[in-house]
Amino acid sequence: MKIELASSYGFCFGVKRAIEIAQKYENSATMGPLIHNEDEINRLKKDFNVGLYSQLSDVKPDDTVIIRTHGIPKNDLKELKKGVKKVINATCPFVTTPQNIVKNMSKEGYSILIFGDIEHPEVKGVKSYASDLDDVHIILSPKDLKNIKFKNNKIACVAQTTKKKETYLEIINELILKNKEVRVFNTICDATFENQDAARDISRKADIMIVIGGKSSSNTKQLHSICLENCPNSYLIENEQELEISWFKDKEFCGITAGASTPDWVIQKVYEKIKSFKP
Ligand code: F3S
Repeated sequence: MKIELASSYGFCFGVKRAIEIAQKYENSATMGPLIHNEDEINRLKKDFNVGLYSQLSDVKPDDTVIIRTHGIPKNDLKELKKGVKKVINATCPFVTTPQNIVKNMSKEGYSILIFGDIEHPEVKGVKSYASDLDDVHIILSPKDLKNIKFKNNKIACVAQTTKKKETYLEIINELILKNKEVRVFNTICDATFENQDAARDISRKADIMIVIGGKSSSNTKQLHSICLENCPNSYLIENEQELEISWFKDKEFCGITAGASTPDWVIQKVYEKIKSFKP
C-alpha cells in the first residue's frame, strides 16, 4: 500500500508561534487549552511545566498567564491583566484581525454578522469586541439569516478563521439581496485554505484517508468533512493508538493529512504505525 502525506498539512503559523511562546515561558499557565491538541498540551506540561486554567477565578496573583491562539473575550483579558503578574498574548494575529474589525465597524454603527460556531472560543472572543452586543449575529448557514433582525441598515461581516469560504460566499450572496450596504471582510485563514486544498487533492486519489487532529478542533473536523466528500473511508484520529488494522484491508493508497494543531511528532507516529501494518 502506498502511503502519502498531503502537500500541506499540520501546524500553522499561529500554532507554531503559540508553542514557541509557551516554551519560552516555563512554569507559566495558559488560559484555556493553548491549542486543540491534548498530546501537545501534555508535552508542554511535562517538558516546560506549562499549566492550564479553565476559568479566570483559578488564577493566582503570581502567575504568568498565556492567552491561547483563539483569544479570549475582551473583559476576561482586562480582568486577567488586573489579577496576575504577567499576561502574554499568544492570540494568533489572524484572530486579532476580526476582533479589531468588529471593534471598529461596531463603533462606526454597523450591525455585525459573524459566520462561525456560537460556542467556539474564537467566536466568543471576536463577538466581545462589539460595542453593542445585542447587534452581533452569529450564524452557520445562509438559512439562519431569516431569523435575524439587524438594528442598522449597514452590516459588516467577518468569518471564523477556520470556516469554509464557499459557505461564507453563499451567506454574503443572500445578504446582499436584501440589504443596501454590506461590508465583507475575508478573515478566513490562508493556512486553512492550503491544508484544505491539499486534503481535497489527495483524498481524490486515496482509497483510505487518515485525518489526524483533536476531535474538538474545528479545522480538523473541516478537513475530515472535505476528505469524506471524496473518499468515504476517511477516519479522524487523535493519535496512532486509534488506528485499526481492519481499515486498511485491500486498500492501495493511503492519504494522510493533519489539522493545524497537530504536532509533527504525532503525525510521524501515525505514519510509522500505518507503515508497520501489512494488510
Ligand atoms: Fe492562526 Fe490560521 Fe492557525 S488563524 S492559529 S494561522 S489556522
